[in-house]
Amino acid sequence: MNILEQEFIKGFIRMCSDGFAQGWHERNGGNLTYRMKDEEVKYVQSVFSYHRSWEDIGTEVPELANEYFLATGSGKYFRNVELDPEANIGIVEIDKTGTKYRVVWGLIHEAVPTSELPTHLMNHAIKKMVTDNQHRVIYHCHSTNVIALTFVLPLKDEIFTRELWEMATECPVVFPAGVGVVPWMVPGGREIAVATSKLMKDYDVAIWAHHGIFCSGSDFDTTFG
Ligand code: 13P
Ligand code: ZN
Repeated sequence: MNILEQEFIKGFIRMCSDGFAQGWHERNGGNLTYRMKDEEVKYVQSVFSYHRSWEDIGTEVPELANEYFLATGSGKYFRNVELDPEANIGIVEIDKTGTKYRVVWGLIHEAVPTSELPTHLMNHAIKKMVTDNQHRVIYHCHSTNVIALTFVLPLKDEIFTRELWEMATECPVVFPAGVGVVPWMVPGGREIAVATSKLMKDYDVAIWAHHGIFCSGSDFDTTFG
């Protein structure tokens, strides 16, 4: 079994490359996580190793206890994911309390998962619940044009929703619930994770003012789309 040949890993890597090609991932900008299916965990578990220590997530996600996530690494460049997956992405296991994680595959040389892990996991927790277990992908990118718009428009859900709906006929069809807006906040912690996951209850898209976008979806194609 070659873990790099599994469909979920190939889809994850392709999405990283596609995001880089859009110009949405300067330097280490952006991060991606995927909530693995039980059968995927079972199939690849033979290559996991359990020698790394449990670390604090920085928030609580009891809804995700004992689940496994594929995640990009903190400080890692999307450009490099396809060139060296094991150095730039990894699989993390969540403990039975939903407060700790440990790396069981990849992220070699003691690399760690994205600094936005609290937001990713809190979004996964709420989306798992409100979509009846369907959503599995959370994606954060530094989408240049939307970031520019946050310097121009008032930071309100209904204003951004209307502006984006009006920009392309397909938009209301693709995100009929609209988009939420998080005001500027310090990234990488619990506070912004709480604010974002609150919006994810109603929306699949949350804009971070002057920073980027978070999207949720059931698979890589719909989330990236
Ligand atoms: P990481 O490299 O820790 O994923 O951070 C990048 C980023 O975009 C922070 O918001
Ligand atoms: Zn970011």
